[in-house]
Amino acid sequence: MRNWCSVLTCLAGLLPTSIQAAKDTYDYVIIGGGTAGLTVGDRLSESGNYTVLVIEYGYLEPDGQRPGTVYNITSAPVSGLGNRTFPVVVGCVVGGGSAVNGRVFQRGTTEDYDIWGELGGEGARGGWNWADMLRYFKKAIQLTPPKPETAPFDLRYDTKYWGRNFTTNHTIFATFGNVISPKIYPFYEAAKKVPGINVSPDGGSGQVGLQYYQASSNPYTGERSYSRTGHWDGLNRANYDLLPATRVNKIVIDRNRAAGVQVYPRGEPQKKTIIRARKEVVLAAGTLHTPQILQLSGIGPADLLRRTGIPVKVDLPGVGYNFQDHTFIPEVSFRWSTSPPIPAHLNISVIDDGLGRTALGLSIGLSVIAPSSFSRIASRYESQSPAAYLPKGTHPTIIRGYRQQQRIYAREMRAKNFSFLRATFSGDPSFVPIVIHPVSRGTVLIDPAASADIEVEPIVDYRAASNPIDVGVAVEQIKFLRRFITGGELSRYNATEVVPGPGYETDEALARWVRANTIPSVYHPVGTAAKMPREWGGVVGEDLLVYGVKGLSVVDASIMPTIVAGTTSMTVYAIAEKAADLIKGRAGRK
Ligand SMILES: Cc1cc2nc3c(=O)[nH]c(=O)nc-3n(C[C@H](O)[C@H](O)[C@H](O)COP(=O)(O)OP(=O)(O)OC[C@H]3O[C@@H](n4cnc5c(N)ncnc54)[C@H](O)[C@@H]3O)c2cc1C
Ligand SMILES: *[C@@H]1O[C@H](CO)[C@@H](O)[C@H](O)[C@H]1NC(C)=O
Ligand SMILES: *[C@@H]1O[C@H](CO)[C@@H](O)[C@H](O)[C@H]1NC(C)=O
Ligand SMILES: *[C@@H]1O[C@H](CO)[C@@H](O)[C@H](O)[C@H]1NC(C)=O
Ligand SMILES: *[C@@H]1O[C@H](CO)[C@@H](O)[C@H](O)[C@H]1NC(C)=O
Ligand SMILES: *[C@@H]1O[C@H](CO)[C@@H](O)[C@H](O)[C@H]1NC(C)=O
Ligand SMILES: *[C@@H]1O[C@H](CO)[C@@H](O)[C@H](O)[C@H]1NC(C)=O
Ligand SMILES: *[C@@H]1O[C@H](CO)[C@@H](O)[C@H](O)[C@H]1NC(C)=O
Ligand SMILES: *[C@@H]1O[C@H](CO)[C@@H](O)[C@H](O)[C@H]1NC(C)=O
Repeated sequence: MRNWCSVLTCLAGLLPTSIQAAKDTYDYVIIGGGTAGLTVGDRLSESGNYTVLVIEYGYLEPDGQRPGTVYNITSAPVSGLGNRTFPVVVGCVVGGGSAVNGRVFQRGTTEDYDIWGELGGEGARGGWNWADMLRYFKKAIQLTPPKPETAPFDLRYDTKYWGRNFTTNHTIFATFGNVISPKIYPFYEAAKKVPGINVSPDGGSGQVGLQYYQASSNPYTGERSYSRTGHWDGLNRANYDLLPATRVNKIVIDRNRAAGVQVYPRGEPQKKTIIRARKEVVLAAGTLHTPQILQLSGIGPADLLRRTGIPVKVDLPGVGYNFQDHTFIPEVSFRWSTSPPIPAHLNISVIDDGLGRTALGLSIGLSVIAPSSFSRIASRYESQSPAAYLPKGTHPTIIRGYRQQQRIYAREMRAKNFSFLRATFSGDPSFVPIVIHPVSRGTVLIDPAASADIEVEPIVDYRAASNPIDVGVAVEQIKFLRRFITGGELSRYNATEVVPGPGYETDEALARWVRANTIPSVYHPVGTAAKMPREWGGVVGEDLLVYGVKGLSVVDASIMPTIVAGTTSMTVYAIAEKAADLIKGRAGRK
């Protein structure tokens, strides 16, 4: 078959749902046409040497984003947050999360990626770390620098952290818009004077501090730059197929090898067929559905699979554990009695280039947030029994892996260059503080009470604030914002607190308020198929191959052993670029 989707139907605005249109065997079958899936699909098909199929449950929307392009999932009640339940939002469309996200384009800190190396265990040196990821950030993302007229805003960037390859539009763009609110400048000036806060040389430098950050937008059109525009549209390769509106039901495992996938057209489970993979099945279904598909295929915690009536192919306890997301409080706000003046040199009218607003963010360590208590928090965390706040019955290997994370995070709580707060300056004295490195861990597990049916969504249990350390960090964040707005440079504007407001003076009162107001997700779920040693509860190795089965890899956000201090899509693109190199590197081997 030709590249039927782009050639025949997409040009005609029609969507194929016929699996007959696909070949019955490919070199690589990729599950999920989201952020990672299409990136890997492009890279594996570009040499022309391999046939590649990407299977995506969502539609190939004629004009990209559409309403209704997300899964309809409600979380389990979060007991640390007063048993509230929350909508769980992940993309269901060609492009996945990158097609529906907020386009805020950030990286984590250097430490985030170096920790991934440390969490590779003994003998994992050099494979995963900042230096290596920087190589892939450069390959994955093309920078559009700020225009000269934004210079008065002190918008720092450094091309050494970026790829610049305008020889192709088949890429993902990171773009600075011209419009910057002058109202953020007083915050910038005041934050610079807080002990421990520096201006970082670039939003992508991996350093904490004050930084402007880009949007994932096309610099020519202002439109969303995402995995579909970068890695599918217009490529028209005869060896690169996309099957949208198709559900992968499970991975077919023959004699301990992932031989292919069982699929059916969306809404027609009676029409199941099998598509085979000669070289590798590549899982890119995202942090919620990657563990679900593994579990339904018999790869996961044996007790859970048995209770669900699924034959155990590989007892892999870590599948669906180690679940993390950023948490946030929607509003901590103040009212000026007199607004800070806008400096005359910023009273300039820049031409709106249609590329959106460039935002200013703050990313700081615990010692800056809580100078008098950070070391007490670190010691308290360090002395916890690692199993104390994990789900009851957590497998000993997972506890061992968490012990490693605990040791590392306690160290980083004392370091200056590991972020424990992300916030964006809006121009008003109002903040959305994010707990950027939570220590609580959740689970994404199939429901043994429901049938072993892929159409039944997994149970998403954020378990946010299950570890009281996270609540303590959020309390310190609020106290920091109070000091920042009412003390120092900004004190002369006589702010009064609006939210939480009077009556929340003690840590205990603030902690209760935090539990009542925290939202457990910034739409950045990660970690459920972690790249860690198997004896630490990991699911994939340094090579991203799933333990205990041949020919099966994971390449999406679920492999992050620990969440990064920034929005997640840029990191997913870099992981996918690295994954493609790893996969190609072993292509010759059997
Ligand atoms: C509302 C929202 C806002 C966000 N805001 C930002 C932001 O501003 N900046 C940022 O950097 N990040 C943001 N993110 C996060 C970021 O987009 C994700 O981390 C990233 O896109 C995840 O990539 P992925 O490849 O792991 O998974 P996805 O991109 O989600 O891809 C997984 C794909 O697999 C498909 N799939 C799942 N199960 C099956 C199956 N059984 N059969 C076939 N296909 C299947 C899904 O439909 C999906 O398309 C946001 C996310 C959301 C949802
Ligand atoms: C494609 O395959 C040919 C023949 O085996 C080989 O010479 C060539 O190097 C391959 N190209 C790439 C990019 O892998
Ligand atoms: C979620 O619900 C909306 C509205 O009913 C629907 O259009 C959409 O298809 C649903 N998403 C999925 C993945 O089923
Ligand atoms: C949450 O639900 C659990 C189980 O139903 C219950 O034991 C607990 O008391 C509830 N907590 C709150 C704060 O309501
Ligand atoms: C830049 O684009 C060209 C053409 O597509 C490609 O051959 C080259 O590998 C790219 N370079 C980088 C650093 O991505
Ligand atoms: C990318 O697209 C823009 C706008 O369509 C066009 O002006 C530019 O020449 C393209 N660049 C390349 C390298 O094709
Ligand atoms: C900004 O400049 C305009 C003229 O360009 C002037 O009318 C206005 O008063 C200035 N505003 C401030 C706050 O200085
Ligand atoms: C971060 O700080 C720690 C000590 O606080 C140090 O060991 C580490 O090298 C620093 N990392 C970077 C990238 O500066
Ligand atoms: C702040 O309050 C002080 C004391 O009440 C007052 O003198 C001062 O004028 C106020 N400043 C502003 C900017 O409102």
